[in-house]
Amino acid sequence: MLQQFNIHKPIIQAPMAGVTTPKLVIACCEAGILGSIGAGYLNGDDTRAFIREVKKGTDKPFAVNLFIQEEPNIDVNVLQQARAALQPIYEELNIPDQQTVISDELYADQLQVVIDEQVPICSFTFGIPTATDIQYLKEANIYTIGTATTLQEALAVEAAGLDAVVVQGREAGGHRGSFIEPMQLISQQDLLAQVIDRVKIPVIAAGGIMTTEHVSTALENGAAAVQLGTVFLVATESEVSTVHKVAILQSKEQGTTLTKAFTGKIARGLQNDFTERLKDAVVAPYPLQHHLTLAIRKESAKQMRPEFLSLWMGENSYMAKKAPVETIVETLLKDVVLR
Ligand SMILES: Cc1cc2nc3c(=O)[nH]c(=O)nc-3n(C[C@H](O)[C@H](O)[C@H](O)COP(=O)(O)O)c2cc1C
Repeated sequence: MLQQFNIHKPIIQAPMAGVTTPKLVIACCEAGILGSIGAGYLNGDDTRAFIREVKKGTDKPFAVNLFIQEEPNIDVNVLQQARAALQPIYEELNIPDQQTVISDELYADQLQVVIDEQVPICSFTFGIPTATDIQYLKEANIYTIGTATTLQEALAVEAAGLDAVVVQGREAGGHRGSFIEPMQLISQQDLLAQVIDRVKIPVIAAGGIMTTEHVSTALENGAAAVQLGTVFLVATESEVSTVHKVAILQSKEQGTTLTKAFTGKIARGLQNDFTERLKDAVVAPYPLQHHLTLAIRKESAKQMRPEFLSLWMGENSYMAKKAPVETIVETLLKDVVLR
């Protein structure tokens, strides 16, 4: 699948909205794997600037990843309860009362930028683009990748006409790409086994892949490539905060948890004070909860209070080791027979 882009190492650096910077994407492309821009939270202009920065640093192909936005159901009651649950933390961090930004229309602008900039590959999470948008991307000769967390979602991605599908196991760090209820938590290996003979499009395995054994197993079980996030967060070229890197490097087995408390969408990260205190709290739907907690995350970063930060990482974060991207890739492919 990646060979058509002249990429011979079957690894994709996962798009990570908010934490991937041009430096990391460039390093990954230059190491011979597919680098991805996590553009989920960027507006059109920032998406364009990011893409141009990457183009300046590498002439290799890369991907841009977009969030399929759903209109949140605004229930004022739920919003008030979610806000009240966060109040003690606002007070602890001395955050003044503020207006909540409700929603921002980013997606249409981002998509136009991807097309204008002739980005070779565009991936999606949280859903499937409309038929019109898929047609528009195809006319622009852009390779499209969807994300699935169940067989049903993988079949839907294929039926919509996307070119490949990432199957994201429950081990994965960051947000789950789930978009068909009920959400299920299937391990990466089981999900790959369920999907591989049921779809014709290339399948990319993601979630908890940290070692050359993990990569070999996924490829032997039919994956066309693997997509890794946590491993690259601790790369020398990763510009994620030091707090986040240290949290990953010091994390222990069973140290992560799934939580909706930061954004309203379920995501995996380090279990901390915030995830524990908000465990049973009312949470506003995405992206409202994201906006409600934004000030908390910004302020706790400033005050060096990691206990209130969203420290996204996969279930196998405790296996991550700091090294330059090139070394990480070499280590991951050590026992892999490249076809
Ligand atoms: C910090 C972080 C941010 C992420 N952001 C995105 C994103 O913007 N888009 C996306 O499709 N996946 C995102 N993911 C999920 C990855 O695509 C991938 O499924 C996951 O990293 C695989 O699990 P691993 O972290 O154990 O390698 C993110 C993951 C992490 C750790």
